[in-house]
Amino acid sequence: MMQPSNEPDSAVICGIGAALPPAIVSNTQLSAHLDTSDEWIRSRTGIAQRHIADIGSGTADLAVQAAEKVTGCAPVQALVLATTTPDRCCPAIATTVASRLGLGGVPAFDLAAGCTGFLYALATAAGFIAARVAEAVLVIGVDRLSTLPAPSDRRTVPLFGDGAGAMVLRRGQAWEDGALGPMVLGSDGTHADLIEAARPGTLRMQGADVFRHATARMSAASTQAVAAAGWRMEDIDRLVPHQANARITSFVARQLALPTDRQLHNIDTVGNTGAASLPLLLAQADGDGRLKAGHRLVLTAFGAGLTWGATTLTWPDLTC
Ligand code: COA
Repeated sequence: MMQPSNEPDSAVICGIGAALPPAIVSNTQLSAHLDTSDEWIRSRTGIAQRHIADIGSGTADLAVQAAEKVTGCAPVQALVLATTTPDRCCPAIATTVASRLGLGGVPAFDLAAGCTGFLYALATAAGFIAARVAEAVLVIGVDRLSTLPAPSDRRTVPLFGDGAGAMVLRRGQAWEDGALGPMVLGSDGTHADLIEAARPGTLRMQGADVFRHATARMSAASTQAVAAAGWRMEDIDRLVPHQANARITSFVARQLALPTDRQLHNIDTVGNTGAASLPLLLAQADGDGRLKAGHRLVLTAFGAGLTWGATTLTWPDLTC
């Protein structure tokens, strides 16, 4: 008979997947109808292209495409979906996504925390596991951020792309590879006006201030998360930062004294995909070998709200 363990339960990653809309828009294509250039966008942001969803396909469609790659990893008993760009205000798109995935009446809801949404969703899913709501939780980060800027706004249009990432967390133990480390999360509503949109096409962003807050918050949150895990920053094999701007992520890496080869990025090909950014980056890096089982990671994000967060984990051998 199994002895009861004294260890509290942890949430352990057992699957990851992602989806991108097929249509790619390059900087050169953008500059055909916007007063900008490939050189300006690349040098200020690191972005060369982004994927844009067709008008006929919604946020829920992208979410389903990413989730279908992971729902076989474990019998999922809850869905937490992070997005700032749902297809509708009410009801949550998570219930539609759960039904389309055939999850059979599981609890499902949307969570809005800007580009930090995926980290908030991971913490929520870990709470569901700890509270015995579910043995395994599907976490989706999905956004169509390309819908937020006014089409003529050269300051914001080039930054954003569309995408989705999905992860399954299962009940496990803290010593296992894939177990989520302590989670650092925060917000500051006194700066809500720095990134604001009342509805699609109305985004206003104060880029320089966002840059300053993003670097400070992601660096501080990463430092706190690594310390809370009992690790040292020099033990980190991969910094996994929200892909907001290549200059922001390089700045954070420098502040944390992590060399360039320990930084994961994909902003050049996908732009800023909001709540999808972290799972999309993890899925791509796991697929192409930049991320290997046993790597120690710090994940960090920052977004509208303002919101920010970080956590640590040792990357597992994902056979699913
Ligand atoms: N092409 C050409 N010129 C552009 C441009 C574009 N796409 N976007 C802005 N400019 C111009 C501006 O109009 C401005 O010209 P002006 O001085 O004549 O008005 C000039 O470039 C400098 O603008 P500025 O906003 O100071 O540039 P920047 O170096 O701060 O870079 C961002 C702008 C948006 C790239 C940068 O501030 C940034 O990345 N901020 C963070 C954004 C972010 O990550 N948001 C999401 C957070 S989750």
